[in-house]
Amino acid sequence: MSTKIAAEEFYDKFAATYDEVLKDPSCNAQHVNEAAKIFNRHNHQKGSVLDIACGTGFLSELLEGEFDYTGIDISSKMLDYAAQRGYKTIHKPIETALAEIDSQSYDFVFCLSSLLCVEDAATAIKHINRIARKTSIFSLDETTEEYIKNFVVPVYDHSKMAIENAMEDYFIVGWTSPTLGITIRTRMIYIEQKSSE
Ligand SMILES: C[S@@+](CC[C@H](N)C(=O)[O-])C[C@H]1O[C@@H](n2cnc3c(N)ncnc32)[C@H](O)[C@@H]1O
Repeated sequence: MSTKIAAEEFYDKFAATYDEVLKDPSCNAQHVNEAAKIFNRHNHQKGSVLDIACGTGFLSELLEGEFDYTGIDISSKMLDYAAQRGYKTIHKPIETALAEIDSQSYDFVFCLSSLLCVEDAATAIKHINRIARKTSIFSLDETTEEYIKNFVVPVYDHSKMAIENAMEDYFIVGWTSPTLGITIRTRMIYIEQKSSE
């Protein structure tokens, strides 16, 4: 097993090259494109977006419409890039940030390729659905044993978790790890909140 380091340290170092890696064909990152595709085909055109573990805020390049973005991330360096894209930023871990946010306080809540870093994903998902006024979109990465063992940040496989009331729920080939070369399948989930018109 590799010696593990904290997510904050790893992603602070990764921030400057993150967008390049995301666009690199060898990484074949599909999860953000797929989330944007789902979102755009449901024809949402404006509102507030909470992008949980937003990284550099790349998602905002892909959504078609007028949206106000707020991003949460554990990495201040990632948030610096998101801020350059117009994000309001919250520098906190998911594990403490979500409980502090009011119910139904953002129209659209995203959480992409980051619940793998959170041990208690079920609690995070409850908060995501509580905070979303209209829709939630999140991804669950099917991390392999080899990836869990060798990736330098502690990660988990939450991809088999039961998710209720999903309008869309399917696997794609999500991404290939730039550090380990391991390809990960990703479960994409789209939920419309009952209270939304
Ligand atoms: C693989 S990147 C995904 C970034 C973006 N959501 C995307 O899909 O391109 C994972 C992000 O999660 C953040 N992260 C990891 N663990 C976190 C935690 N416990 N709380 C908040 N952010 C976290 C990292 O700093 C990083 O920006």
